[in-house]
Amino acid sequence: MISEKDFIPSGYTHSIEKGDFKWSAPSNIALVKYWGKKDNQIPANPSISFTLNQCKTITSLSFEKKNPDGNFSFDLLFEGKPKDDFKPKIQKFFERIETYLPFLKEYHFTINTENTFPHSSGIASSASGMAALAVNLMSIEKELNPEMTEDYFNQKASFLARLGSGSACRSVKGNIVTWGNHKETEGSSDLFGIEFSGSVHTNFKNYQDTILLVDKGEKQVSSTVGHDLMHNHPYAEKRFEQAHVNLSKIKTILESGDLQEFIKIVESEALTLHAMMLTSMPYYILMKPNTLEIINRIWKFRNETNIPVCFTLDAGANVHILYPENVRDKVLELIKNELVGFCQNSQYICDEIGFGAKKL
Ligand code: PMV
Repeated sequence: MISEKDFIPSGYTHSIEKGDFKWSAPSNIALVKYWGKKDNQIPANPSISFTLNQCKTITSLSFEKKNPDGNFSFDLLFEGKPKDDFKPKIQKFFERIETYLPFLKEYHFTINTENTFPHSSGIASSASGMAALAVNLMSIEKELNPEMTEDYFNQKASFLARLGSGSACRSVKGNIVTWGNHKETEGSSDLFGIEFSGSVHTNFKNYQDTILLVDKGEKQVSSTVGHDLMHNHPYAEKRFEQAHVNLSKIKTILESGDLQEFIKIVESEALTLHAMMLTSMPYYILMKPNTLEIINRIWKFRNETNIPVCFTLDAGANVHILYPENVRDKVLELIKNELVGFCQNSQYICDEIGFGAKKL
């Protein structure tokens, strides 16, 4: 079993004065949700997600040796302009990962980052953002240790991304990624995400995710607070058990291609996530009236047409509509004719399952 110690380098064979890298990393959408965590970003239950393709963060990282003064040194740019309010998050991330990347205090970094999705669309940029930064940092480590294997690179990138934002560890590599110890998933780990190793049914090939932007405002309760409220939550233990069972079921479904069963698990997971919020103390609601309108319209459409379209939700009001590629035209027609009116400024984003981080 791989442990945290395996990610602490014992030394570097090469040195490097300066350089730059550029990577993109996608967002991901969980089918079985991670909700609740232990110390050090260890998930309370395992999860699985589709990696997205269009919704991504592009980050370039320049670095140059500096006089060692015992501090982290970095500039942060968002779309080319200084963005100081993101800095504390990066500072905290560097502090958390320094043990695993001991070169961090030897360089001055310039981090320039941008997203392909609209700013403050309510789409979590932390998953793609932290994954993009983690792979860039691993590119530096690879220069210092050129014999590093690709597997180690990806595992450690996922491990580091997790320490920035839990779900980010599922955005490094693979179409479908599992994260968290799960008895029935060989190689699964609480420390990093692993690619789904089963043979995926063609029904899921190029699976579509159209994200309806219902509410672009700042969330009233952050995910960090939400995870925390799972401590002493009256239904937490049952929920964690259920996630293990649902993960076993969805693995079988991904292989068999049973879309009816897929829909049941995915929609139930989305509503269970929000049920945990409704039953936290303090309790809260992140769905908006239009979230429910959209869900009801999807159900009505599915009943009337038998088209296997379903929804899932993140920790927010936006609705992800998931469906096979071969019903794309009909679902897009539904969205344009019936659902777009429930979106803020009529905005939605068409995405599909993707492959992970890419070096540019
Ligand atoms: O990665 P975090 O801490 O932002 O948590 C995200 C949790 C959900 O998006 C709600 C579910 C998931 O598994 O991605």
